Amino acid sequence: MSDPSTNPIYRRLHRIPHILLVLSGKGGVGKSSVSVQLALSLHALPSRPRIALLDIDLTGPSIPRMLHLPPGTGVHQSSEGWVPAYADGEEKRMACMSTGLLLKRREESVVWRGPKKNAMIRQFLSEVRWGDVDWLVIDTPPGTSDEHLSLLEHLSPVAPSLSSVLVTTPQALSLVDCLKSLSFTRLVSLPLLGIIENLSGYVCPCCGEVSNVFSTGGGEDMARREGVRFLGRLPVDTKLVELLDGQVPEDTPREGWALLEAYKRTTTHALFQGIVQKVVEGAEALQRGEAAPGFREEDGRQLAEAVAALAANAQHEEEA
Ligand SMILES: Nc1ncnc2c1ncn2[C@@H]1O[C@H](COP(=O)(O)OP(=O)(O)OP(=O)(O)O)[C@@H](O)[C@H]1O
Ligand SMILES: [Mg+2]
Repeated sequence: MSDPSTNPIYRRLHRIPHILLVLSGKGGVGKSSVSVQLALSLHALPSRPRIALLDIDLTGPSIPRMLHLPPGTGVHQSSEGWVPAYADGEEKRMACMSTGLLLKRREESVVWRGPKKNAMIRQFLSEVRWGDVDWLVIDTPPGTSDEHLSLLEHLSPVAPSLSSVLVTTPQALSLVDCLKSLSFTRLVSLPLLGIIENLSGYVCPCCGEVSNVFSTGGGEDMARREGVRFLGRLPVDTKLVELLDGQVPEDTPREGWALLEAYKRTTTHALFQGIVQKVVEGAEALQRGEAAPGFREEDGRQLAEAVAALAANAQHEEEA
């Protein structure tokens, strides 16, 4: 095997203890909002970890807006690589990189084919100067696309730090797609820390009470059936949407990071505490060498080998 220290992605990322991919089978189920909530909740931990949030939804980036980075925020090149944007001001514990930060105007469209996407993902992984971060959270596009294969191919030199969470909604269609993503994590030997059921129930905007007006529990049932950890359920929360759309309520305390302070006042924040605690526990257990629940290391293959086999198979099917 070649010396990993010659690999630019290994050199850039090998000191990051936890690299967490946020996946979903279907679009619009809340991956980006869950990625941002994970980043905010980790940032708020008493141990004050440093977080990097990488948006590899290249053609539909939503993280800069959800993190309240002002329009026009860019990233700049330094002699040591791209300097990410920081969302938490002077604290600089919340770094972000996204194609949204490379565009002149946020509403510009990005139309790229496979090779360009692959090159961009490689650049994001090898050229961003994250510094000494504790968590790299990666928001991905829906499904199991080219981007996922590229991402995992490039990340294989740092495979021991990788894990994932899956976001679904309780509806049957989303659950079917969620099962496909679950089988993808198994195919490529990517440890799955668990499943989050989003848009499950409803928070009353007046009293904050959570009621179950729609079906709930499908994600939890699936987790049980598949032997995967269920991380928690998040209701439809209109206050959360307003916040992620960029509006900080007037009565938010002015000291500290306004987005985080306002997030802490949502009903969803309280519910997310249980989720982030399980994510941290799961990632730390992995680091100690314990397997994630429900993880079937398909015939003991390594990530690089499994991804290469899957990519070759996809190529073969395309040609047939
Ligand atoms: N728990 C929630 N309560 C209310 N609205 C939510 C919740 N989670 C997500 N949303 C809203 O649903 C919309 C889709 O969410 P989000 O962008 O996070 O999904 P996604 O899976 O990343 O979508 P895409 O597949 O397009 O990337 C957003 O407007 C978001 O604010
Ligand atoms: Mg998204």
